Amino acid sequence: MSQSVETLRQEFRSASDAAKDSKDLEAIRIRFLGKKGAITALLKSLGELPPEERREAGARINTLKDELSQALDNEIAKRGATEQEQKLKVERPDVTLPGTLPLPGSIHPVTRVAQEIADIFLSMGFFLADGPEVEEEYYNFEALNVPAHHPARDMQDTFYLETGRVLRTQTSPVQIRTMEQMKPPLKMIALGKVYRRDSDITHSPMFHQMEGLVVGENVTMSDLKGTLVMFAETMFGKRPFRFRPSYFPFTEPSAEMDIQCIFCHGNGCKICKGTGWMEILGCGMVNPKVFEAVKYDTEKFTGFAFGMGIERQAMLRYGINDIRLLFGSDIRFLRQF
Ligand code: DAH
Repeated sequence: MSQSVETLRQEFRSASDAAKDSKDLEAIRIRFLGKKGAITALLKSLGELPPEERREAGARINTLKDELSQALDNEIAKRGATEQEQKLKVERPDVTLPGTLPLPGSIHPVTRVAQEIADIFLSMGFFLADGPEVEEEYYNFEALNVPAHHPARDMQDTFYLETGRVLRTQTSPVQIRTMEQMKPPLKMIALGKVYRRDSDITHSPMFHQMEGLVVGENVTMSDLKGTLVMFAETMFGKRPFRFRPSYFPFTEPSAEMDIQCIFCHGNGCKICKGTGWMEILGCGMVNPKVFEAVKYDTEKFTGFAFGMGIERQAMLRYGINDIRLLFGSDIRFLRQF
């Protein structure tokens, strides 16, 4: 037994002398002092000794155990310190190198334009109304004078959900929801996401719209014109505009408003597709059928409404020709705003 204690001591010495780093030392700890290590094996073999020798042999093994563990601790402390020093020498940070600045966030162009448009109307005394994106077909279509099978439903490729529900294709249903809850007169805008089954360089399956509605006694087409011209001039600067006759089921008469192209000043360019004009919104006098749906007195009240795509306004404003850029989250694109 004294023989094996001595052999183990020797083996330990040469192993620890050969150890190159703290990893090697850890391996040595496991080999000699671990649960399945050499010392444990030695202690287990005590049983094979005659009883009178066991006590002394046990004591010697334990001394060896303390000795090895002490030696290992010392060695690890020593090596650890040198390794740390070495590392610091090699990895010393160069405080003269330029740092990496965190990128400051900024407001997305769609949000920015939406806020600007909303501010213009809020400053004219409109209030902001809200409605759900998952909408009843009734509000999105029927109440807006688009009955089932009406050809006008084809104007908007709809995402249909479970019975009677759709992802709203327009913010116009907020007109109905607001009128159901309020008596005229009122001046409201609504802003939010709308959805259509459409995707190409100028269409995205989700986009944003801003809706407007004014109802009162003696509201006329000149009020519509005055309000929308005021909006367009604040938004795009004073420039020629025109109203073209159009069709929407919920307005009669209906129109679309164009302003002179802000890039070519009417000469025709890529952004206005050579026409010299940019279409900015749809509008019209509220169709009495819509008032009937919300039980407003059509003899007493008239109104006008308008709707516009926010992405479209942003694209016109900044001369962006692909709507997908607005949703691509490419930092190089977004940084320009
Ligand atoms: N809802 C129409 C669309 O999505 C836009 C619109 C046109 C809204 C005329 C209106 C309006 O309120 O009067 O194409």
